[in-house]
Amino acid sequence: AEVRFGSTEVAAVAPVVGEQQAPFSEVPAADTVIGIRKKTYSEILAERQEQAKRTVLINCPYKISEKKLLKYLSSHGNVKDHFFYETHGLYAVIEFSKADSIASMQDGIRTPQLENEGFVPFKSRIFTLTYKNPPNDDAEVLSVPRCAQTAMPVGDLVTKLCKANSVSDQLLMLTEMYQLTEENTRLRFLVCSLVQDITEAYFPNCTVKPFGSSVNTFGKLGCDLDMLLDLDEVKNMNRKKTGPFKLEYLIRRVPNQRVATQRILSAVAEFIDNCGPGCIGVQKILHARCPLVKFSHQPSGFQCDLTANNRIAFKSSELLYLYGSLDPRVRVLVFSVRCWARVHGITNIIPGHWVTNFALTLMVLFFLQKRKPYIIPTLDQLKGLADAEDKQIIEGYDCTFVSNLNKIEPTKNTETLDMLLLEFFQFYGKFDFNKYSLNIRKGREQNKPEAAALHIQNPFESNLNVSKNVSAAQLERFVTLAQDSAWLLHQELNDPSSNRSQPWGLAALLHTPAVKKNGHKQVKTNKIQAIENIRGLLASLKSNAQSGKRSFGTQ
Ligand code: CTP
Ligand code: MG
Repeated sequence: AEVRFGSTEVAAVAPVVGEQQAPFSEVPAADTVIGIRKKTYSEILAERQEQAKRTVLINCPYKISEKKLLKYLSSHGNVKDHFFYETHGLYAVIEFSKADSIASMQDGIRTPQLENEGFVPFKSRIFTLTYKNPPNDDAEVLSVPRCAQTAMPVGDLVTKLCKANSVSDQLLMLTEMYQLTEENTRLRFLVCSLVQDITEAYFPNCTVKPFGSSVNTFGKLGCDLDMLLDLDEVKNMNRKKTGPFKLEYLIRRVPNQRVATQRILSAVAEFIDNCGPGCIGVQKILHARCPLVKFSHQPSGFQCDLTANNRIAFKSSELLYLYGSLDPRVRVLVFSVRCWARVHGITNIIPGHWVTNFALTLMVLFFLQKRKPYIIPTLDQLKGLADAEDKQIIEGYDCTFVSNLNKIEPTKNTETLDMLLLEFFQFYGKFDFNKYSLNIRKGREQNKPEAAALHIQNPFESNLNVSKNVSAAQLERFVTLAQDSAWLLHQELNDPSSNRSQPWGLAALLHTPAVKKNGHKQVKTNKIQAIENIRGLLASLKSNAQSGKRSFGTQ
């Protein structure tokens, strides 16, 4: 597939978003194509899950000799790959060539000998390694290279962006620095696999799969890990139809599927809380529209959201993956817009009346469908290209679309990244949100079916609004900011600033008062964050009280 940029310079400086795009991150994975066919989402997922099954996590002493560790592990089998990272301690991720090596390792392992405490025994794949006799040769234990698992603070990013040559370069740089790395993606699949070890104790044959930003190509380092507990295999076991009898399992009956999901998640949450190695802060949120269990996986540092029976959300991650893989400009724009929205408090880490990253991503996709010629096809077009095996009806909703990327014609659009960002701001700066709903299935706006400040039709559940939570005040902030940003960017592109010691271009758009004030600090203090959150909530409540009947962007 040929991907063309308006500016060859942009493509040249950015091999990172070139055509040989790796599946979930940008680090080239040599095996993302079979012959000339690109692998499908399910194929990549299955491979990564299999790889995770052959992998263990080892908590190491800070003074560790990499060479000695690998030699020690090789007695259990060939170590195919490994890397180190640091969270609450130093960890090594060890991938064996064969899964048998793990059983061999577990055979020789003992549980810790604790004197005053009790413990819940569990044969997990997370181990702690200590030296019998700590080495005294410092030369041998020179610090091992650690793969960063978090994104750099915005202040540092702004400084780096100022050194770029053009706004398009800045957009590429941001993506390169914020996207998930190959190692971080592997760690995400490993954590799902480790959680599966726990849930399998209840439901043999279940699987735990990642979805959302961990796999949809739009994940930023540090984003949460959305997991789906998949019980389909358990449900569909033993479907032999021969013989004179019908034989079925005795099962626990409950009033409806939602109650079943709540019961399952509740039981799993209790088990994770009481027995799950490394899982802390377990919270059951069972009355949400989509029931979930939240917890923190301490060895990896991931904030995890575990759901069950959530197959439509899982399918929408595949759709986003497909869009993100079609043209390199899609990811670059989504990353930049998400980052811009986050620094200006348009999106927020806590739930509320803010636009979510998912909704924002759909807004970017919709905008790219509206370009002439279009950069990405509509969902209906993707459905038209589907094979018989792509057909999928979930809970009565048609979720069919093509899975083979090679069947999708590359775009003829050659617009540059800087112009696209400007056009994005201009498009939403004057969009008639009061009247129209965004629909990525059709690739065009439609009259709003219900009164909501922002209406974005769920791609599959067409009766749902993805941005139902967004208040009129929050939408107004988004529109005003888009207009201001369009103006700033227009100035820069028409007359590139000569004074590049000041933040310019994308750096200027990200240089908010909070970023300026906090300089290079990683996070705002909890107090400042709390005040901001309360302010946002109050503004939303106020706007709700005034009802959602205000018009935007129609001046
Ligand atoms: N999702 C959905 N409908 C919503 C919200 C979410 O279908 N109203 C699905 C999407 O597939 C989304 C996934 O659930 O990607 C996970 O949701 P969330 O964690 O909120 O979004 P992410 O895309 O993972 O982005 P973030 O980085 O903010 O976690
Ligand atoms: Mg998420």
